Amino acid sequence: MQNTQGLFISFEGIDGAGKSTHIEAVAQAFESQGRSVTRTREPGGTPLAEALRQLVLNDPMDALTESLLVFAARRDHIQGVIAPALAQGRVVLCDRFTDATFAYQGAGRGFDLGVLQTLEQWVQASGAEAQALLQPQLTIWFDLPPAVAAARLTGARVPDKFESQPLAFFEAVAGGYATRLAQDPERFARINADQSPEAVRDQVIGALRAKAFLPGAQSA
Ligand code: TMP
Repeated sequence: MQNTQGLFISFEGIDGAGKSTHIEAVAQAFESQGRSVTRTREPGGTPLAEALRQLVLNDPMDALTESLLVFAARRDHIQGVIAPALAQGRVVLCDRFTDATFAYQGAGRGFDLGVLQTLEQWVQASGAEAQALLQPQLTIWFDLPPAVAAARLTGARVPDKFESQPLAFFEAVAGGYATRLAQDPERFARINADQSPEAVRDQVIGALRAKAFLPGAQSA
């Protein structure tokens, strides 16, 4: 058990935006400050949620089914990993969270945002206050033109159901992220991901310093 407060940070972006590399750098930056870090992802993070991930990424289904499965995975992930880690004062670095559902199922698939909001309330309601939703304290959004992301992904690996979507889908998803940022600008840090890995990393560390989550003088 640590004395420090838990910290919940999510990482978002379209497929190919390059977020995974930078999550490791963020983990190291926190660990060098003596913080305990939980690295996790969505859909996934628990045995049940990882099993649901395989279905969501590979099996054809309609947008409601997809939404129900990602929120079911999220519920199990919150209960099994995120909430306990935060209660122990750990830093939780989550590769995607609910913004991905609004971006992919909402904006990308065109699914009903009102239904997603209801699911968000059900799944992320925390504690006695029904209004208090578990949300990341900071969401780092790797913003990259979809055409650049597609070029980066080409040949990288066998594409899953989402990665093989056309450019127009990712343009809609990117628009979904922009909408989420506009709705909650304080929570988001938009990173220009169309730069060198070093420049992107500097922006990410800068965003963490700006929130005072990392000390300013720290050379991560
Ligand atoms: P990843 O490849 O970054 O781990 O993400 C898995 C894929 O799942 C990615 O294409 C985005 C998609 N996804 C959704 O469609 N809805 C969600 O709620 C989440 C978390 C991911």
